[in-house]
Amino acid sequence: MVNGLLFDDCCSAGLVIFLTTVTSLEVKQENMRHLCNDTLVTLVNGQFPGPAVEATEGDTVIVHLVNESPYGITIHWHGVKQRLSCWDDGAGMITQCPIQPNTTFTYRFNVTGQEGTLWWHAHVSILRATLHGIIIIRPKSGSYPFQKPHMDIPVIIGEWWQRDLMKVDKNFSNGGHFSDNPAGATINGKLGDLYNCSGFVEDNFVLNVEQGKTYMLRLVNAVLFSEYYFKVAGHKFTVVGADANYVKPYTTDVVAVAPGETIDVLMVADAPPCRYYMVALANQPPAPDPQIPVFMSRGVVQYNNAPINVGGNCTKEALMPEMPDQHDTLASFYFHGNLSGLPSNPLLAQIQGHVDEHLYIALGKGSICKGNKPSCKRGGSDESIEVAYMNNVSFHLPEKMSILEARQNTKANGAFMGVQDLPSQPPRSFNFTDPALIPVVPGGKLEELEATRKATTMRRFAHNAVVEVVFQSTATMQSDSNPMHLHGHDFFVLAQGHGNYNPARDVSGYNLVDPALKNTVQVPRLGWAAIRFVADNPGAWFMHCHFEFHIAMGMATVFEVANGPTLDETLPPPPSDLPKCTNMKE
Ligand code: C2O
Repeated sequence: MVNGLLFDDCCSAGLVIFLTTVTSLEVKQENMRHLCNDTLVTLVNGQFPGPAVEATEGDTVIVHLVNESPYGITIHWHGVKQRLSCWDDGAGMITQCPIQPNTTFTYRFNVTGQEGTLWWHAHVSILRATLHGIIIIRPKSGSYPFQKPHMDIPVIIGEWWQRDLMKVDKNFSNGGHFSDNPAGATINGKLGDLYNCSGFVEDNFVLNVEQGKTYMLRLVNAVLFSEYYFKVAGHKFTVVGADANYVKPYTTDVVAVAPGETIDVLMVADAPPCRYYMVALANQPPAPDPQIPVFMSRGVVQYNNAPINVGGNCTKEALMPEMPDQHDTLASFYFHGNLSGLPSNPLLAQIQGHVDEHLYIALGKGSICKGNKPSCKRGGSDESIEVAYMNNVSFHLPEKMSILEARQNTKANGAFMGVQDLPSQPPRSFNFTDPALIPVVPGGKLEELEATRKATTMRRFAHNAVVEVVFQSTATMQSDSNPMHLHGHDFFVLAQGHGNYNPARDVSGYNLVDPALKNTVQVPRLGWAAIRFVADNPGAWFMHCHFEFHIAMGMATVFEVANGPTLDETLPPPPSDLPKCTNMKE
């Protein structure tokens, strides 16, 4: 493995030197032992989480992916804008067909205009549970819009699974199994000392700190299921970045991080030099939503030279932070509501004026009839399958060719591959956030609203169109929040609220002055969020909920952005080694 900075074919132009980061990722199955069990897992370079990809703003990143696993694999560079490099976005069946077992593919992209924390993960079915790692993009000047931290530390929140993930994925595509749960939560791959089996206690992630120094924690939520609260006993954080964009510094003692999000915080080691637990706790809506077990992992912040024993001032046991209740979803609402951006962003001017496209997307669950029957019993009956949707269409992933290849093969604007337009608004208007819709019962309030259909949907946008999307979380079969992620673009988060979105009331509350720029927005439980972006990056971009069961059940669509009039606004042809879609095994 080569991992570092190299000069790569850079200098023939004579004038400009491009730095290139070259990394090799080798995907393989291996046994890992936790909780007294050996579990066969798919890993990159034998590590969980996988290796960090570290780069400097403006770098070109080249990643050689060697697939020695039995599965077709793609790797997505979550949050990397992939300007004019949609082919390297790694969204399985959206931008490429999977890299087949015993083959390789080289991803190439740049990280221009982005600084902070992103991450990479497998983007075929559920394999991202173990195939993921952090991407760190440091400023080229070496300076931050805040005092340079003494050190930066990845804090990757993950989950440890002891199930056959392929089977879990199938279960979700067939209606979901709420018994399919991970065995526990992890921080940087460690379950922590709350987990043990037969007296064997799992290791904690340990962060050694020196009193008085400032540490930047780069938080990534890489789990399949849950939003997490994160705290360190006795310490406060200053939030300085989210999704590789700086935010206006904001002080808090609790961070909420949803699947797909990254949050950068500064933590000053200013407490008495002792030991403090850091805790990641999954939140979930209360019953009647289906309940999962409590997932909590803890690590330790350990001060150097802490006087722990012999008459020292520290208690022997590290201090525990007081966590929000696991059913408290308001702490997330406030945390996300307090994020704002730096007002200097040049894209801001473009979204303050005329909006070309308005979408209102209801995110919910419904059902389709088994065996393509036109009608069937619903309300939890065996005749129907539970699915997730956007505006009552449950996304069907193409099977023969990726959307981007179909786009490349299709002249002009004709429809292709039976792809349908995603409706601009829900087909029916009802009280989307009525809690009476949550329980799935025969004859219940929800039943008449359940019917949905399966299709591959897409929205096509003119080059440079200004697009507004309002996401509406609903109470249909569950009242989860929805971390919505768009590939290929960052968007401004203009507002969020509880209940049903009401333009007459809510548009006037939009923050058009200093909204946060993100690639993932946590759409609140029983609420809504409004975003705007400029469709300036030609290609086919996946847009989906980052809860894995929601995406497996169809809460997804594709945003297609047209080429612009000039060559540097046109997506180049595919790389010659792009995996062929023929001879796919799965
Ligand atoms: Cu991190 Cu399409 O996802």
